[in-house]
Parts: sequence; C-alpha cells; structure tokens
Amino acid sequence: MEAALPREHYVDAPMFVRERDMLRHEWTCLGRLDELGLTERDRVAVLDFHGESILVTNDGSLHALGNVCRHRGSQLMPADSPPCVAKAIRCPYHSWTYALDGSLMHAPHADDIDPAAFALTSLAADSWGGWLWVAESPRTTLLEQLGPIPERIKRYPLTDLKLGLRFEYDVRANWKVIAENYNECYHCGPVHPELSRLVPAFASGGRDIPWEDGVPHREGAWTFTMSGTTDRAPFPDLDEHERVKHKGELIYPNLLLSLSAEHVASYILEPLAIDRTRITCELLFHPTETTKGTFDPSDAGDLWDLVNRQDWAICESVQRGMSSRYFQGGWYAPMEDDSLDIRRWLLSRLEG
Ligand code: FES
Ligand SMILES: [Fe+2]
Repeated sequence: MEAALPREHYVDAPMFVRERDMLRHEWTCLGRLDELGLTERDRVAVLDFHGESILVTNDGSLHALGNVCRHRGSQLMPADSPPCVAKAIRCPYHSWTYALDGSLMHAPHADDIDPAAFALTSLAADSWGGWLWVAESPRTTLLEQLGPIPERIKRYPLTDLKLGLRFEYDVRANWKVIAENYNECYHCGPVHPELSRLVPAFASGGRDIPWEDGVPHREGAWTFTMSGTTDRAPFPDLDEHERVKHKGELIYPNLLLSLSAEHVASYILEPLAIDRTRITCELLFHPTETTKGTFDPSDAGDLWDLVNRQDWAICESVQRGMSSRYFQGGWYAPMEDDSLDIRRWLLSRLEG
C-alpha cells in the first residue's frame, strides 16, 4: 500500500490558498459554452474562476478578462449577472468602455491616455468538447493539458451534446476527496448497491475491469439508467464496445466524465474552501433526442442523482474523519492505483 496525500492537504485552510494559487494556472473547466451563451458573437458571461470574478466574451474569439476596471477598480458587471448580449463593456463608475477583447475603446474626457496601457487583465480562454476552459498564464496549451484523453473518447460527439438535466450539489468535502472517490471503485460494492447490480464487476472493487475498453453491464443492460436500458439511440459513431459499455475520464483539475452509450454525465468541481466543493452534474444528450417531444431524461437522472448522493454522503464522512486529530493520513489499496495519480499530479505542481 502507498501513502495518500498528507492530511494537511484536506484540512488546513492555508493549504487551500496555496493550492488555489497553483490551480489558477491549470486549464479549468467553467461550463458548457452553449449554456453560457458563448457559442455566438457579442456575448458576455460573468463567471467565478477559483474565487475571482471574470468576464468571458465572444467577439468571434473567446476572451477571459478580469472583471475589474483599469481606472479605479470598480467591478465592471455584478458577479451574479446572467449571460448577456453586448458589443462593449462600460464601467458603471466613470464610463470607461472596453471592447470584448478587453482593449480600452473610450475614456471620457481623458483623450491623452494611451489605450494600449489600460486594457483589461487578460486570461487564456479556449474550448474543447463543448466546454469553456480558462487559465491564468498557463504553462501549456489546453490540448497539451488534455493529453491522450480527446483521442480515447473521440467517438463521443461531446461538442454537439445538449443539456438534458442539471443537478447542483454543495458538498462539505475537499475537492480532492471527491476526485479520489471518483477514481476508484473499491467503494462501489458497499456504497452503491443499485449501481453494483447494473455493473456486477463494481461489487468486487472493479479490480479486474479493463477501464480503457469500457465497463461491461449486467446481461441485457447497456447504459446507465435505472433499468439499464432506454429508448434513446446510442451515439451514432461509437464502436461496438462503446455501444454496450461505460467509460470514465477524470480530467484534471476539475472535470469528471462518465460516458454511457447514449448520454454523458459531466461533473464540474468548484473548490470553495478546504472543506467545501460545489459540484455541477450535467446530463448531456444527443440533439436528435433532446428535440423530440417525448424526450424524458429522468431514467438516467434518477440513477445519477441516487449514485451522486451516495458518493457525496461518503465523501462528507471522509472529510469529517480527516478533520479528526486521530487521523494521521490515508492509504491507497491496490485497486486504488488511479488515485495515486492525484497525489503525483498535485505534488509535482505544488512543488513546481
Ligand atoms: S472605475 Fe471604471 S471608469 Fe472609473
Ligand atoms: Fe461512487
């Protein structure tokens, strides 16, 4: 057995600040572009990026900008503004006006200032799979950060998928507790009886499952719904294995994907505090299904919400236990090898 991350990574508030400073430089998933209105030009969305309010705009390209005026620092748009149509961003204080790429267009009665010196603070913004990704001075491109993942799941039409159901959870656990839990199925037998009936291999810890080929269901089942079947069609370009098996990806730092043959469950983790994480779970479906009058995603939604609540409850139990003075640090059992990746991923960046 190998030692898990030291206790302070889960319970010490100063460690959260240190981690957050590191995470800002990682490409972070902030949501579906279409749900944020950002698939069209002349759009602005106000978002939270690791505790900082930012503006994300589309003027033909995506831009991520600090939500703070370069004049005397007023917030440009309220942090809770809904996505909107805009050609420019005007500060409410003295009306300095910025183009959607962040450049200063106009400062009233101040013709002698150099606009180039007063552009909004710019972050990197990009898209993959239909999701928006933002990073502050990233060390790599988004595709470099994603590594082999896009190739592994290339037959799933991620960019085209549409939201069918969204669940939001405020979980009293460190974000790494949730990611580690996602990354192992040692807990599936004890925690997820319904899921283990759908995928019998889960009941034995998932040790012998060929994860990269996909997880087989019980006889007669082929997707993650309460019954294991549905009348929705599988995604059109899947191979024969993907049409009957389930795949999962943990995309560091904060997007978890569960890929069924006819829907995708995505989880965006937002670390809010050392012991608190907001989780947005979205069930995404093919547009030919969501536009049908008979579309009803509840067969998938009922299963996911049940499994999610089981996971969050046990993660909160872990967080409470880790907070005890009697907790000295955890261990990874052999079938938790993937969880070790989190430790290596995190420590190499914090040290860097
Ligand atoms: S603070 Fe924005 S224009 Fe003055
Ligand atoms: Fe689980």
